[in-house]
Amino acid sequence: MVDVVLGLQWGDEGKGKIVDVLTPQYDVVARFQGGPNAGHSLEFGGNKYVLNTIPSGIFHEHCTNIIGNGVVIDPVQLKKEIEKASATGVDIKKSLYISQKAHLILPTHRLVDAASEAKKGEHKVGSTLRGISPTYQDKIGRSGLRVGDILTDGFATKYRNATNIHCELLNSLNFEYNLADHEPAFFEAVEFLKQFKIINSEYFVNDLIKSGKKILAEGAQGTLLDIDFGSYPFVTSSNTITGGACSGLGISPQHIQKVYGIFKAYCTRVGNGPFPTEQENETGEMLRKLGHEFGATTGRPRRTGWLDLPTLKYAIMLNGVTDLICTKSDVLSGFEEVLVCDRYKIEGAETSELPYSMQDVKLEPLYRSFPGWTGDLSKIKTYNELPETFRNYMDYVQSQIEVPVNVISVGPDREETIIR
Ligand code: GDP
Ligand code: IMO
Ligand code: MG
Repeated sequence: MVDVVLGLQWGDEGKGKIVDVLTPQYDVVARFQGGPNAGHSLEFGGNKYVLNTIPSGIFHEHCTNIIGNGVVIDPVQLKKEIEKASATGVDIKKSLYISQKAHLILPTHRLVDAASEAKKGEHKVGSTLRGISPTYQDKIGRSGLRVGDILTDGFATKYRNATNIHCELLNSLNFEYNLADHEPAFFEAVEFLKQFKIINSEYFVNDLIKSGKKILAEGAQGTLLDIDFGSYPFVTSSNTITGGACSGLGISPQHIQKVYGIFKAYCTRVGNGPFPTEQENETGEMLRKLGHEFGATTGRPRRTGWLDLPTLKYAIMLNGVTDLICTKSDVLSGFEEVLVCDRYKIEGAETSELPYSMQDVKLEPLYRSFPGWTGDLSKIKTYNELPETFRNYMDYVQSQIEVPVNVISVGPDREETIIR
């Protein structure tokens, strides 16, 4: 059987921490989409780790970790990550499996990402500049290079043909670059990756399912960044929803059982695009400060705002969420009043449905106010010990979204987790 963990907002909901907490119940953790645009943080034993491409089960010795075909891999970045994780004593050669069908991020994909964003000027998406969009464009355009290609004799030629096209594009955009600055590290990383298990992961995953192993599929980004259902065009370039786990790992929907949807007790977003409940004021500043809301990948300050139920309900619907996990509840401690948006007013009419495009209509979030709570929640172990005002807030949220909130995370550490 396969369970899925994914984000229900604009990413950074705490997927890394939650996957790490759930891993003891699973034999396998498999990433199904995205690439090093992701930054998944884990904390235990007083240390913090950030993973970009490696699945978040890697610190559990028993766990098999798979980078699925739906992921895009930057060899240079992955080499760095492997070296870092190995330095902590993890046996990557034993526990990491890489799909031969995962697409490769080439140095020129990163350059094209930078050039396209520069060309868009103030309309830029605010990408992580990791080459994600150009790599997925080549995948869909049927001209990408895959991990399996590095094991073939023709790799150097395929590489050169692909980069020639990218260079033409870069030149036409008058973008200044020197490929020679990037290629030695790229080819060194490609050689480095050959020592790991590069496999036909769709067979591997389905054999594991057949033999009764428990698999946790780990999503990256969040539902509101999904290429089809996110706030297009301010999205990433992959399907971040449950369906992405099927195409990104080669598994049938019939194998999926639980879908864990993670949401923060408030909202954040990095990069551009609509954010109805954004607080560009002291409240937003306080959320950013108390929540340490700075990107795990790029270090950019995250935009912050109140919890938004219309988008959360939309995400739960699209993903078929069975179990909800609320993170960062501790961060709201100390606010006199906590707001939740439960409807929008769009062009004068109230609704709880999302419009076709959030950026092209006059949208006003309508809020319900709750008295806040105080004190350090991070050492609390049971739901009933949480402040009554917090439970009132959570009861309301749960009554609106109609799916049980089974886990409340009250701090970044593994141990700071309340299971109901
Ligand atoms: P991901 O991309 O979904 O894995 O999330 P990130 O790791 O990018 O961002 C989440 C941040 O919040 C990380 O710094 C986590 O260590 C931290 N975090 C996760 N859960 C909690 C929580 O319940 N409380 C607090 N205070 N921090 C948390
Ligand atoms: P995790 O897995 C938050 C955002 C970028 C940008 C948009 C497109 O850590 O939750 P891209 O580089 O994908 O072309 O950027 O998506 N973005 C994320 N925001 N968390 C992430 O991943 C993100 N990955 C991409 O900021 O707005
Ligand atoms: Mg992140």
